[in-house]
Amino acid sequence: MTMAESMLYKKKLEGKVAIVTGGASGIGEATAHVFAKHGSRMVVIADVQKEVGQQVAKSIGLNHSAYIHCDVTDEEQVKAVVEWTVKNYGQLDIMFSNAGIFSRSDQTVLDLDLSALDHLFAINVRGTAACVKHSARAMVERGVRGTIVCTASIAASRGAFQKTNYFMSKHAVLEPVRSASRQLREHGVRVNCVSPVVVASPMSYSAFGMDAKQLHEAFEPRSSLKGVALKAEHVADAVLFLASDDSGFVNGHDLLVDGGWLDTNTTVWR
Ligand SMILES: NC(=O)c1ccc[n+]([C@@H]2O[C@H](COP(=O)([O-])OP(=O)(O)OC[C@H]3O[C@@H](n4cnc5c(N)ncnc54)[C@H](O)[C@@H]3O)[C@@H](O)[C@H]2O)c1
Repeated sequence: MTMAESMLYKKKLEGKVAIVTGGASGIGEATAHVFAKHGSRMVVIADVQKEVGQQVAKSIGLNHSAYIHCDVTDEEQVKAVVEWTVKNYGQLDIMFSNAGIFSRSDQTVLDLDLSALDHLFAINVRGTAACVKHSARAMVERGVRGTIVCTASIAASRGAFQKTNYFMSKHAVLEPVRSASRQLREHGVRVNCVSPVVVASPMSYSAFGMDAKQLHEAFEPRSSLKGVALKAEHVADAVLFLASDDSGFVNGHDLLVDGGWLDTNTTVWR
């Protein structure tokens, strides 16, 4: 970056304290880096993957990032991460509730495995609810006009042909976002979500059995935005928009990061 460019480059999260759940990998990892690049005072990586989570914090720099173990299925652990963050860094400005998992099998309604559904809901839905609840409490109690961003999916906008439990869980991420955005607006706290199409990440590599190049080749022909492979960094930039003052009047919004996928496809995938 030249001197002139760096003078034009505006840091959008100067001095902010953020928690990123699922920050050890994929979209969360990319977002933690973007938050740090944009001047966050502290980015707390809350995840169940200790070694990789610590590596992410280290790669950002331990003055501006820390890993803390947090299984979002356990409300007490979510509460503890929020309290630890506030105690150590004074307040919480941004919660990016992003930790999630994908269906492990096809899961049509005819063969729906309710134990698998419970497990998936415990992370994707209950985890989101706990993150929204405890981050909102910390913001409201301290009069912080913070922002909460959740990761939903384009799976939240269509019915499923398979992976029914995942689609159900992502629909159930939109509701807390919409309710919280109504209930918290009087406190100046904004709540929104991002909804990506298939992104190259460890989750999609294992879900589709493909690497980044194969995913691009498989999904690009059905995308309306030609020649662009969706990367975790594109989603991170959308999260940055929702977390920063750039979206100061955006509340209760589901920001699709799908290159027009839903506009041109009646299904998410088969
Ligand atoms: N990759 C995609 O194609 C895609 C598309 C749309 C939405 N999403 C959503 O994006 C989010 C991030 O997915 P990703 O693609 O980066 O996947 P990923 O597997 O790379 O990252 C998910 C992270 O969540 C963490 N995690 C899992 N269970 C947890 C728990 N109980 N407590 C705390 N952390 C936990 C994992 O350790 C991992 O670091 C998920 O909510 C996912 O549903 C992904």
